[in-house]
Amino acid sequence: MPRRVAVLISGRGSNMVSLIEAASAPDFPAEIALVLSNRPDAAGLERARQAGIATAIIDHKDHPTREDFEQAMDAVLTEHGIEFICLAGFMRVLTDWFVERWAGRMINIHPSLLPLFRGVHTHRRALEEGVLIHGCTVHFVVPELDAGPIIAQAAVPVIPGDTEESLAARILVQEHSLYPQALRMISDGSARLENGRVVFSESWNSEGALRSPT
Ligand code: GAR
Repeated sequence: MPRRVAVLISGRGSNMVSLIEAASAPDFPAEIALVLSNRPDAAGLERARQAGIATAIIDHKDHPTREDFEQAMDAVLTEHGIEFICLAGFMRVLTDWFVERWAGRMINIHPSLLPLFRGVHTHRRALEEGVLIHGCTVHFVVPELDAGPIIAQAAVPVIPGDTEESLAARILVQEHSLYPQALRMISDGSARLENGRVVFSESWNSEGALRSPT
């Protein structure tokens, strides 16, 4: 049986779309059973509806405290029989209570090669620092922001003349293939969290390198 997954969004939802598309393949080990947004105006909600996915809005502004907001989210997730959560541009910081409740079952995509550039404005900061390789990371969520054990990463070169926008676009292409790959790995058990580390059951070819400039 495919694992039941909720995608949590706050905005346009392009990563959500890539997860929905990947999960529509018959052999994919997960199904997107719910898209949940904390913002009623998130553009991704309409895209999820068009794909025939159940949607829910839990507006954080309707809840007096973070805990109250998260209890409401948790109730909807439970109601839909959700087993795994993918944060995809979900821009609310989660409490330890929620993170621990979903420990080993909640992943996030972050637009940098963690542990570099935790937090926001990752592309601006990468350009300011002058790094020549940048990228994206999928990781298990832990209470500390953007600090969880890493499941998968993709790297791209930073090119002379890059702007925040051009760099973001180059990385987003990679996000869209990396996130479905990581969801597949946690859903079929080939990557799992054990004692705070990711244990992989896959083998891979370690000979290739991304070098910039080539
Ligand atoms: C993505 O680039 C994602 O990596 C980033 O927000 C964007 C959401 O785009 N996430 C974070 O910055 C989380 N801290 P999307 O709504 O089109 O998927």
